[in-house]
Amino acid sequence: MKFLVTGCAGFIGFHLCTSLSKNKKNKIFGIDNLNNYYDTKLKKERIRILQKNNNFHFSKIDISEENKVKKYFNNQRFDIVVHLAAQAGVRYALKYPEAYITANIVGFYNIIEYSRINNVKKFLYASSSSVYGSQDKFPTREDSSTSEPESLYAATKKNNEIIAHSYFKIHKFKSTALRFFTVYGPYGRPDMALFIFTKSILEGKKIELYNSGNHVRDFTFISDVITSIEKIIKKKQIGSDIFNISSSNPQKLLYFIEVIEKVIGKKSKKINKKMQKGDVFKTHGDSNKLKNFINFTPSVKIEEGISMFVNWYREYYK
Ligand SMILES: NC(=O)c1ccc[n+]([C@@H]2O[C@H](COP(=O)([O-])OP(=O)(O)OC[C@H]3O[C@@H](n4cnc5c(N)ncnc54)[C@H](O)[C@@H]3O)[C@@H](O)[C@H]2O)c1
Repeated sequence: MKFLVTGCAGFIGFHLCTSLSKNKKNKIFGIDNLNNYYDTKLKKERIRILQKNNNFHFSKIDISEENKVKKYFNNQRFDIVVHLAAQAGVRYALKYPEAYITANIVGFYNIIEYSRINNVKKFLYASSSSVYGSQDKFPTREDSSTSEPESLYAATKKNNEIIAHSYFKIHKFKSTALRFFTVYGPYGRPDMALFIFTKSILEGKKIELYNSGNHVRDFTFISDVITSIEKIIKKKQIGSDIFNISSSNPQKLLYFIEVIEKVIGKKSKKINKKMQKGDVFKTHGDSNKLKNFINFTPSVKIEEGISMFVNWYREYYK
């Protein structure tokens, strides 16, 4: 099987390529623009590790550049595309809105359009739990309302789902949206809570808690996410569909911090802050649709997942 994974230098892309490259019959082509939204050293290190596999090939490409995407697709015949490249993060959009339009809308269009033209058999892409906005009924199901995004990031992800839907209606081009819920684990993103809190606690610095840490998140461990993606890919028939990729086990951020403190063996110093624009109070996804489709539910407990992250962090940053 010939795979294209966009955003391969990113957190989820790195883990997906690592897992796919274990099967030597797979050929994995990864693209990423290695932008500096967060530490590029970490992105380059992920690529360095991936390149130890003979069946992984990296190209530095910006998905918003249509000519480059077109040429890249023309030179390869991909069976499966997993589109993960995007401008992530909710808060960054307050300062840099154009980054979201370029990567998440123009970039998404380029990847779905050339996947369609080149008859890609399976097309999966990253959506997000943020499309649910602020709900009052939980757990959110794939058919819950998604018409009131709280952030530009969420709006671009919803836009991807709408474009993908129109490609099915017009071209019968099928795609699978993966609504990820707060993914965490080793080699995780430096802009996300687990990384920031671990770093600050270890360095004895204060941690800023938006909404005084009263948020609730459906934390989902990276290995569960990768297993879910691979099981979906293995299905013979995939319709044009949307799946929550969630552990369906929401936790208060304050409890999440308690677990980090326990694993590290040190208390945090907290500063309470107001709720940030764009943030939602709670995420909790219903994972039954995924379970019915692939007979698998994310199940790694946060105590176990945080411990694996902290072990990685200590080893990696010494
Ligand atoms: N990690 C989560 O909790 C989470 C939750 C919901 C959705 N998602 C989505 O899943 C996907 C992967 O997330 P991640 O956590 O691995 O994020 P990440 O930021 O680590 O990875 C995204 C990668 O895309 C690359 N990229 C960005 N713009 C690009 C462009 N124009 N051209 C080429 N490459 C570009 C970045 O350099 C980065 O390496 C993203 O689409 C994200 O929005 C992630």
